[in-house]
Amino acid sequence: MFSADLLAGQTILITGGGTGLGRAMALRFAGLGAKVGICGRRPDPLAATVADIRAAGGTAASAMCDVRDPVSVKMMVDSLEAELGPLTGLVNNAAGNFLSAAEDLSPNAFDTVIKIVLNGTFHTTSEVGRRWIERKNGGAILSIVTTYAWMGSAFVLPSACAKAGVLAMTRSLAVEWATYGIRSNAIAPGPFPTDGAFSRLMAGDIEEQVKKQIPLGRFGRPEELADLAVYMMAPGASYMNGECVVLDGGEWLKTGQEFGHYTDFDRGAVKQIFQSMKRSR
Ligand code: COA
Repeated sequence: MFSADLLAGQTILITGGGTGLGRAMALRFAGLGAKVGICGRRPDPLAATVADIRAAGGTAASAMCDVRDPVSVKMMVDSLEAELGPLTGLVNNAAGNFLSAAEDLSPNAFDTVIKIVLNGTFHTTSEVGRRWIERKNGGAILSIVTTYAWMGSAFVLPSACAKAGVLAMTRSLAVEWATYGIRSNAIAPGPFPTDGAFSRLMAGDIEEQVKKQIPLGRFGRPEELADLAVYMMAPGASYMNGECVVLDGGEWLKTGQEFGHYTDFDRGAVKQIFQSMKRSR
């Protein structure tokens, strides 16, 4: 779908790049010629992802970092830039989430998710953005949000609040930092089966029910998200700024639409019902 060297000359930092969607993006970016820096809290997934990229002939480096801590973020960016050269792209992918009734959340539980998702995105964005402003070379920021950033969602209140904030940050900076040649965009994925997300968010046999909410009838594949991210980070997307692209198989439209649930039934039977209602009018 892309030319082999589409991302050559780019150096992209992916937070939370050792696992899940972050890892999928790291592998794909590196496979298309980008130098990739990844960070996270656990050394083993970082080392494994860097090793896989290098084994495939790509260039990658990692640094341990908790995005909640601005000092740790600065040290991580220093270390990756020393190894890979100046960053040209940033993907804010690191996140934290769990299911909980809102009334059961402790102040620290709420804070923890906000600090990872919202504050963490601010820390990486401001650290990298300030360097880009000083260097006058521009850059591309991509933040991974979620469709419930604007819908809201029961049982993930801190994440919904934090992701709404990240979307607001994306749109604010799209205007404020465009003058520095910095683009700021987001992807809003629906459910993608990664261990990190599904082990925390899919209780019991809910998976099949969730799948029924998706008009395309399946979950996303991490490679599909990685390909969209490639496009949004690539030079060809140089006029895309302030956009949030939904990648959810049509899920949020269906769940938000009044009559979308008719698609859950056999189409022939549904059409017959509609016909019979027409005749009886
Ligand atoms: N329900 C309610 N509260 C919870 C919880 C849950 N499932 N999991 C954690 N908490 C609360 C803790 O009780 C604690 O609050 P307290 O001090 O008042 O008891 C607070 O959240 C912090 O928990 P802790 O485990 O110390 O935080 P952590 O920094 O080690 O972990 C999480 C952060 C909780 C977000 C953890 O799930 C994580 O590391 N996630 C990263 C990856 C991820 O979530 N990926 C999915 C993205 S979709």
